[in-house]
Amino acid sequence: MANSAENVQVIQRGRHLGAEIQGINLTQPVDDLTFKVIKDVFVEHELIVFQDQPITSEQQIGFAKKFGELSVHPFSPNSDETPELIIFDNDADNPPFGTDCWHSDETFRAEPPKATMLHGLIIPEVGGDTMFASMTSAYEGLSDRMKNFISGLECIHDFKPFRALFNNDEKGKADLRYFEDRYPTITHPVVRKHPVSGKPVLFVNPQFSIRIKGMSEVESRNLLDQLFEQAKIPEFQYRHCWDVDTVVIWDNRSTQHYAVHDYFPQRRKLNRVTIKGGKVLPYTDAADTRSVHNNKSPLPDSPKVKHGGHVPKRQLERELEKVKT
Ligand SMILES: [Fe+2]
Repeated sequence: MANSAENVQVIQRGRHLGAEIQGINLTQPVDDLTFKVIKDVFVEHELIVFQDQPITSEQQIGFAKKFGELSVHPFSPNSDETPELIIFDNDADNPPFGTDCWHSDETFRAEPPKATMLHGLIIPEVGGDTMFASMTSAYEGLSDRMKNFISGLECIHDFKPFRALFNNDEKGKADLRYFEDRYPTITHPVVRKHPVSGKPVLFVNPQFSIRIKGMSEVESRNLLDQLFEQAKIPEFQYRHCWDVDTVVIWDNRSTQHYAVHDYFPQRRKLNRVTIKGGKVLPYTDAADTRSVHNNKSPLPDSPKVKHGGHVPKRQLERELEKVKT
């Protein structure tokens, strides 16, 4: 059956991010009207999952191109014929490298990717999930005082984990200089404005963000460590358990991810394509400083707060209660 907008079914999978789209067959063409529906779901839910899609790499590239122009990663494994296709094929002889760390893809670029798409080909029997965090919700989860404090700050990003790929000999040093010239450290706003939704997004990650501009090293380290913690809060996460022929595409502008490295030495193979993004724009609206309310929990002194039936009890009261019952 041909794909059509009316057949798109959306099932929310995570509270703050993640939705599964059913009723679409990615081995078949996706017309513009149907794609518009998919793209709206992508922006709203920040991550979409398609199950049971036995697509070829050409079909994956073709579908990804509907989201925009593809980009070529300067360090990841790819082939000369299709450089935009990254093949993650890890096993006992080729352990996974550098993705078990919270990050948005390639924020060391002046224009980091808009989106990343993975297609599962060989999935370990146990493990190998990918965790995702909504950085829109992570930002919302900050107190308003913190939102105000980080408003207008900028952070320097660097391709630091990939520096380990260069040897310490003359060739290695020359190669490193070549990449440093092509990808110099770059400054992005700490809070970016999503170009489609307009929402504020916390845009620092432990893989590539190295220093807050205008702060001492200790201040910068402390603040970054605190902001990095936001992605680790389970309430802002969605954990994806892979199956063969699952396709996942995430909004790299508003999410972070962490590839759980618990499957070694089992084999895991995923094909990735990456969609180019644009300049990172700052979010400039100031937050309300009057409260410290956040979206993870209501204010502790609010009369509306319930504690799931929990109340403090003194030991004596407990004993009396036991006697009564
Ligand atoms: Fe990644």
